[in-house]
Amino acid sequence: MRVLLLTHSFNSLAQRLYVELTARGHQVSIEFDIADEVTEEAVALFAPDVVVAPFLKRAIPESVWSRHVCLVVHPGIVGDRGPSALDWAILEGKQEWGVTVLQANAVMDGGDIWAAEAFPMRDTRKSSLYRNEVTEAAVRCVLAALERLAAGTFRPKPLDASDPAIRGRPRPLLRQEQRAIDWSRDDTGTVLRKIRASDGFPGVLDEIRGVECFLYNAWPESELPGAPGEIIATRDGAICIGTVDGAVWITHLKRRSDGEPGFKLPAARVLEHRLQGVPAVPLDPFAPEGAATWREIRYAEAGGVGYLHFEFYNGAMSTDQCQRLQNAYAKAGERPVKVLVLMGGQDFWCNGIHLNQIEAAESPADESWANINAMDDLCLAILQNRGQLTLAAMQGNGGAGGVFLALAADRVLAREGVVLNPHYKGMGNLFGSEYWTYLLPRRVGEERAKAITENRLPIGARTAVELGLVDECFGADVTAFESGLRARAEALAASPDFAQRLAEKVQRRARDEAEKPLAVYRAAELEHMKLNFYGFDPSYHVARYHFVHKVPHAWTPLHLAAHRRNIWHRRQDLAGSGSLAREAAS
Ligand code: COA
Repeated sequence: MRVLLLTHSFNSLAQRLYVELTARGHQVSIEFDIADEVTEEAVALFAPDVVVAPFLKRAIPESVWSRHVCLVVHPGIVGDRGPSALDWAILEGKQEWGVTVLQANAVMDGGDIWAAEAFPMRDTRKSSLYRNEVTEAAVRCVLAALERLAAGTFRPKPLDASDPAIRGRPRPLLRQEQRAIDWSRDDTGTVLRKIRASDGFPGVLDEIRGVECFLYNAWPESELPGAPGEIIATRDGAICIGTVDGAVWITHLKRRSDGEPGFKLPAARVLEHRLQGVPAVPLDPFAPEGAATWREIRYAEAGGVGYLHFEFYNGAMSTDQCQRLQNAYAKAGERPVKVLVLMGGQDFWCNGIHLNQIEAAESPADESWANINAMDDLCLAILQNRGQLTLAAMQGNGGAGGVFLALAADRVLAREGVVLNPHYKGMGNLFGSEYWTYLLPRRVGEERAKAITENRLPIGARTAVELGLVDECFGADVTAFESGLRARAEALAASPDFAQRLAEKVQRRARDEAEKPLAVYRAAELEHMKLNFYGFDPSYHVARYHFVHKVPHAWTPLHLAAHRRNIWHRRQDLAGSGSLAREAAS
């Protein structure tokens, strides 16, 4: 089928649908929802069999839904309506939630139902539910709806609000007053629920030490005592605030501003000079798991295997985070384990250098340089491990340099639903480093490496295996992936030919090094990066500004909007032959 994905942005769900639909032979093109006329033009150009809307903030124009079947993904159970579906479900502590695919009509989220699925809720933040349970259910619902549409016999069901089995109801926007924390009354569970219901967007508005800001990424703390509402400790950029019955860690804040909107940064950085007297309470990544608390880097061992977790918010890795991870990696290298698994985080494996921290730096160019060098140092340490076999375990999505960080490990394993974006070009023509010029071609060959980095399209885990980018993918969800991973890692550590495998890896590295040293790859990559950061062309700085400040798209990039590519090329040709003016006039 010809499927037009109409979406506010090419977010993780839209990307996942893109990879699933193209893998099934559908012809997919993408249009950002910018204005009704633009949507109408896209539909006219592409002539889709169906429009699928995974993520919209506005209604589809009647001119489109009245002439084409438009399937809208709503992250709520049947009968639920409104823009804060998941937010309400988390805030109200629902045990089960769901996804519904409806046919767009005049009532927002009120159309006939093509497919719906329920899932058990997990105690986590909204964005994590969205990237896992919602995404998996949405993919199944959209695939089911397309099959039903193709069969031609299915009639979508209108909502029968009088049916007592329908538990969903129209809900209004969840406002900041309803999200607000009352530190003198709310217990830890309530504070966590409020922040998690609002994370990654819009956050919970609060005032901390005189700074109006939105709160993100909260974790319970059960041992540090403190007065409710008081900051009692800091750790790796996070702040710990007392509640009436315990405390919570909050890792990120976004300043509220009447001018240019703020962006998320580590909490301690936003509060800067206001934290005098607050003790820093570091926690060793190697300290055994104990009472509830928060730490970004955590090491555990079982069955002769070491597991290094790095749960960095949004998968972004700042200079400091890279360095702390590299220190932990070095220490893990000294542990008596044969296999070391790099776990990344549950939601993201890694998304490369920390663009928000770079944006906030006094010199973004200098900070970019420091950050990419810290990433390279980490990749190098992984590549130079001669005593262990390393596995990269991609539980969640990875982007840009984050993908190449995984390729530095000996084997790359991914959860089935993971989507990878192994390219940098979209960030203002960034060249990229992380030894990608060594790591990518050696896995997929020069030609494919060029296609992957130039096409700038998301790649699903199964396709990544076919391409050779990833060695294996398995596990329908994070729990299944973890247990499959554990079995594989332990089998590898216990395998009779372990010593031989390790020797082969060391020999291969030595051969590659003799052919072309890693330092040469790095130096060449960094030459390009220096131009990106310090050169005359400001594209990277402009693109980063747009990304960090979430500047709305003014058009759909041509590598996504297949339906616009021909027109563009035709216009280029006409411009070349001087007949553009004639065409414009006609
Ligand atoms: N630095 C800082 N923040 C980052 C980030 C990075 N490298 N990568 C992602 N994020 C943040 C996003 O701003 C977003 O923040 P929010 O919680 O405020 O909404 C969040 O992570 C999720 O990202 P989003 O873009 O919504 O996720 P996605 O799954 O739709 O898309 C990517 C994933 C990787 C394609 C996209 O995030 C991206 O292009 N990231 C930048 C990658 C990059 O260029 N890195 C630098 C070069 S190594």
